[in-house]
Amino acid sequence: MEVKRVQQLRAEIRRHDELYYRDSSPLISDREYDRLKAELAKLEKGQGELDLFADASPSPTLTVGDDRLDSFASHRHLSPMLSLDNTYDKSEFFEFDQRLRKIFEADALPYVVEPKIDGVAISLTYVQGKLERAVTRGNGAEGDVVTQNVLHISELPRQLEGSRIPEVIEIRGEIYMTHGEFLRINEEREKAGAPLYANPRNLAAGTVKLLDPKEARQRKLELVLYGLGACEPEHLFERQSEFHAAIVEWQLPTVEKSWGSRNADEAWNAIKELDELREGFAYPTDGAVVKLDSIMGQREAGATAKAPRWAIAYKFETEQCETVLLGIETQVGRTGAVTPVAHLEPVVVAGTTVSRATLHNADEIIRKDLRVGDAVIVEKAGEIIPQVIRYLPEKRPEGTHPYLFPENCPECHTQLSRTEGEAAWRCPASSCPAQVRGRIEHFASRGCMDVENLGEAVVAQLVEAGKARDVGELYALTADDLLDLEGFAEKSAKNLIVALESSKSQALWRLINGLGIKHVGAAAAKDLARELGSLDMIAKADEESLVSIEGIGSIMAESIQGFFKEEKNRELIARLESHGLRVEERTQAVGDRPWTGKTFVLTGSLVEMTRPEASARIEALGGKVSASVSKKTSYLVAGPGAGSKLAKAETLAVEILDEAAFLTMLAEPGD
Ligand code: IVH
Repeated sequence: MEVKRVQQLRAEIRRHDELYYRDSSPLISDREYDRLKAELAKLEKGQGELDLFADASPSPTLTVGDDRLDSFASHRHLSPMLSLDNTYDKSEFFEFDQRLRKIFEADALPYVVEPKIDGVAISLTYVQGKLERAVTRGNGAEGDVVTQNVLHISELPRQLEGSRIPEVIEIRGEIYMTHGEFLRINEEREKAGAPLYANPRNLAAGTVKLLDPKEARQRKLELVLYGLGACEPEHLFERQSEFHAAIVEWQLPTVEKSWGSRNADEAWNAIKELDELREGFAYPTDGAVVKLDSIMGQREAGATAKAPRWAIAYKFETEQCETVLLGIETQVGRTGAVTPVAHLEPVVVAGTTVSRATLHNADEIIRKDLRVGDAVIVEKAGEIIPQVIRYLPEKRPEGTHPYLFPENCPECHTQLSRTEGEAAWRCPASSCPAQVRGRIEHFASRGCMDVENLGEAVVAQLVEAGKARDVGELYALTADDLLDLEGFAEKSAKNLIVALESSKSQALWRLINGLGIKHVGAAAAKDLARELGSLDMIAKADEESLVSIEGIGSIMAESIQGFFKEEKNRELIARLESHGLRVEERTQAVGDRPWTGKTFVLTGSLVEMTRPEASARIEALGGKVSASVSKKTSYLVAGPGAGSKLAKAETLAVEILDEAAFLTMLAEPGD
């Protein structure tokens, strides 16, 4: 029985390793994964060391996972990139200290405590201070060379400046993505009909492994460095704390805070303090890493096949809650993808009430064997998006049935289909009312044509009544047409007609975004509008001229060409043009763009306008809006509730504007 469980656990862990490292799309939370690992370790202990790898990975080095892909060149690390032993348990942390003290026959050992950043491990090699390459962890011994995909990280130095620059050095750290950037990209992906990323870590990992560096450049990645790999001369640094000081001197981005401690008790206090502070850090922090301060001592303590003996990761618990799965509903998006959504008995998780959670796709429900009526465990992935982790077998009520994914569209009853290799079932009928509603809602939304008074409910009425079968028909509507609909009176009908009329002169990028071309979000729409100037030019552009535009990669180019090739799309555009929509970029004299070259970062809340409005105003004046503060930032606009960005701007001496000062600048942009 036990042997069977061990085999089962090994197979399961291997599968999750692949999903996490190679595909950047894990199906279970880190906590669940750690539980599987802990269970396996316990059983293996009982079985003795000899057959430890009998039917597991072919080589013990694979115990750190393997992120390598065929499409990248491989590079062998000068010093291996190991994993860390994890614990969630205070007593295990003190056992770690005890083991080390035994090795060194010491009463107390000095440690450094650092945040454990939940990102993607990276190794940067500098030769004579010059950045040579960036390599992923890979299998620990060799990884993928991803230099081109990370070069756009503004904090990533190409050249080390300062004293004590070694001949060769490998510096280790994590690439991560802020929650804000994660939400921005997922929002764009949702609009573009692309599958969503589960959390910022996966999105960062996916970005580092993009085959097209130009697409990687569209997504803001950040970097934090903490570790020493190989170094020549070898004994340049004696302590971890000394290396940390060098990182600061060389102006490399590093952890906001680390703690020196004289013994395990002090280190434990630091871990608790870190847990209190981590919410305010710029990067996702899922634990503390405790390292022996002496680098000589680290060498002496050595490592097992998987992890060093001189360091341990103490992970913080993610809050999990139990609730009941009341039902599973399916939703049809504008691209036809059918997504199952869990209805839950409302429960408070990590500060907010959760009553719905996406179940991703049909396979996910089968894999977890979730059934309506089950007691389930819910947690927030990356502390943001609620996830149903598993059901509780001991609480399964009698008479439940395995969930049957619908075979037909819940909206138009067309038989669903699934493309090989894709997880989603789709409704193939483009006239499906749910898809029509989705396309019109998207077109009218704030990030696109921003048509006031055309929200979900009105769109549903128009589609239901057959008055708008596509976005072109919106512009043929008259006030009389609207008066037939429930809830419309003279005034509201006129308001909607006026809003539609004024949307006709929206900027070209809004129209491009509104068309819903797969993979093309707001950022790419702006690039296309700026570079090509009209829908006609975009339609005519060949692949070569499309990919020569900064920000447009080959996948996007293909999708754009496919879109304009389709007769019904061309007909729609002709109709929009005949209604008087602006299909060309309005040329602006440089004098109208006085903020050209200025970069703004917005943080905290604004009162007079929303952040997207503020961004639009800045861009209209020629300025750029960036997600994070760097030396290149011209102004930080900080409203109430500003946090780490404000602190960073202060350290970098970036000019800080409150909302009033920003409004004054907007009123007199030429000054
Ligand atoms: S030190 C020999 N310090 O977590 C391993 N790792 O789960 C030395 N990580 O492989 C790693 N923050 O990719 C270290 N402050 C930190 C870290 C950190 C995140 C990552 C790293 C490591 C993994 C283990």
